[in-house]
Amino acid sequence: MLIKVWNGEVGTSNGIDKMNLKNRTELAKHFAELGFRKGAEVGVFQGYYSMVLLDNIPNLNLLCVDSWTSATGWGQRRNVAAYPVAKKNLSRYYHATILKGDSTNVAKLITDDTLDFVYIDADHSYEAVKADINAWVPKVKNGGIIAGHDYFTHRTLGVIEAVDEFAKELNLDVKTTEWDHENSVSDDKQPNWYFTKI
Ligand SMILES: C[S@@+](CC[C@H](N)C(=O)[O-])C[C@H]1O[C@@H](n2cnc3c(N)ncnc32)[C@H](O)[C@@H]1O
Repeated sequence: MLIKVWNGEVGTSNGIDKMNLKNRTELAKHFAELGFRKGAEVGVFQGYYSMVLLDNIPNLNLLCVDSWTSATGWGQRRNVAAYPVAKKNLSRYYHATILKGDSTNVAKLITDDTLDFVYIDADHSYEAVKADINAWVPKVKNGGIIAGHDYFTHRTLGVIEAVDEFAKELNLDVKTTEWDHENSVSDDKQPNWYFTKI
């Protein structure tokens, strides 16, 4: 299996990758432009970004994967309390399927090479992001995209380290969205990372 960076329409200039998508709503719109119809979000919480994906990608079948028990992220109590909120938020989407369980265990239930994309936003530790990438990349079809949230430096995050290490093993660069500081939604400001599977 070979993973390659998606170079987009803008490409590179002076050897420096241009960040050509402003935020993760634009990433969802990009998925729609690519004709994606089946994907997964790993780490759903209350379902906010699942709804962004479902609202921006016509006829999307979305697997919404979360344990809703983890102590990571905003804390166990908030993650547990988020489950009924996610169920309510996603209930109006006929093509959203909630899969409650640990990310890597749920991945074992999914047939390889069947998803157009996966968006990873669960436990942000280095070990967990690495495990999530390794578990979910095989589920994505060739030509599909593996993406995730929070590609920035923070003492409690291991996202950059895990993503870069994975990319380095396959001799790749990492494509990202921009920082969108003006965005009114606090979780839509942060950069996202993505690759195309070929
Ligand atoms: C940052 S929140 C997700 C936010 C959501 N992607 C959004 O933008 O609206 C992280 C979520 O990951 C879940 N999570 C953490 N570790 C997990 C694991 N190992 N398996 C499944 N879900 C996990 C937590 O329960 C929490 O709801």
